[in-house]
Amino acid sequence: MTVFLVGAGPGDPDLLTVKAARLLQRADVVVHDALVDDRILDLVPRTARLIDVGKRPGARIEQASINSTLIDLSSQYACIVRLKGGDPYVFGRGGEEAQALLAVGAEVEVVPGVSSAFAAAAAVGIPVTHRGVSPAVTVVTGHRRDGEVEVDWVSLAKAGSTLVVLMGVAERESIAVGLLAGGLSPDLPVAIVERATRPDQTVVRGRLGDLSRLPANPPAVIVIGAVAALDTACYLPTALQRCCTELAQP
Ligand SMILES: C[S@@+](CC[C@H](N)C(=O)[O-])C[C@H]1O[C@@H](n2cnc3c(N)ncnc32)[C@H](O)[C@@H]1O
Repeated sequence: MTVFLVGAGPGDPDLLTVKAARLLQRADVVVHDALVDDRILDLVPRTARLIDVGKRPGARIEQASINSTLIDLSSQYACIVRLKGGDPYVFGRGGEEAQALLAVGAEVEVVPGVSSAFAAAAAVGIPVTHRGVSPAVTVVTGHRRDGEVEVDWVSLAKAGSTLVVLMGVAERESIAVGLLAGGLSPDLPVAIVERATRPDQTVVRGRLGDLSRLPANPPAVIVIGAVAALDTACYLPTALQRCCTELAQP
């Protein structure tokens, strides 16, 4: 009776870890988020139960109710997979779910995943750190929640690191205002990567001064810093398939 908190990666099923894929293939029940790609859910046996607890606008499922669902399931099934986009412990509330389960004596194991915090930039050829350009990277939420510590954009501007902002689309104007107030140049490169590693991935590049005017829709990662102007080797979701097909040719 173990609950596995599993990272599904940023989207492309080829970016699942081997352990995640194995667990999905032998799960009795899979409790998944909205951002998990259908091609990943296709790995789950037809006999297994699929429970969608995705939080969507207008159909909000409270975290406490997800925790109770997991606690209930932990006494009913042998292999419970709690599947989350990216890495379960990067803005995924996986830590809270683990705490709730451990508090009732359930067995919990975490299976890290490829986080969009790094994969989105890499997918469009942006190295988040780059020798001589950026020695550090800071991953931060752009989402404002009542009662939580506000992100101090003015201080972050002074840190000199690449900023990778998750959940920042709606707040991009105030993010830019804070960073400019902290001394960053309006000419600093930015990139907005939407639906990274999925077949409909897009990237828009621009400058910090224009961030609020750049088109953007969630799910998207905003990369802010000199590295955002780099355009090195990109990730092609179809490359593995193509390469394997070529290898299979006589
Ligand atoms: C609740 S957070 C979960 C992050 C996840 N645990 C991770 O490690 O990637 C959701 C945010 O992750 C980012 N995100 C997740 N998947 C993405 C993707 N494929 N492309 C771009 N951004 C993505 C977006 O900023 C989205 O609003």
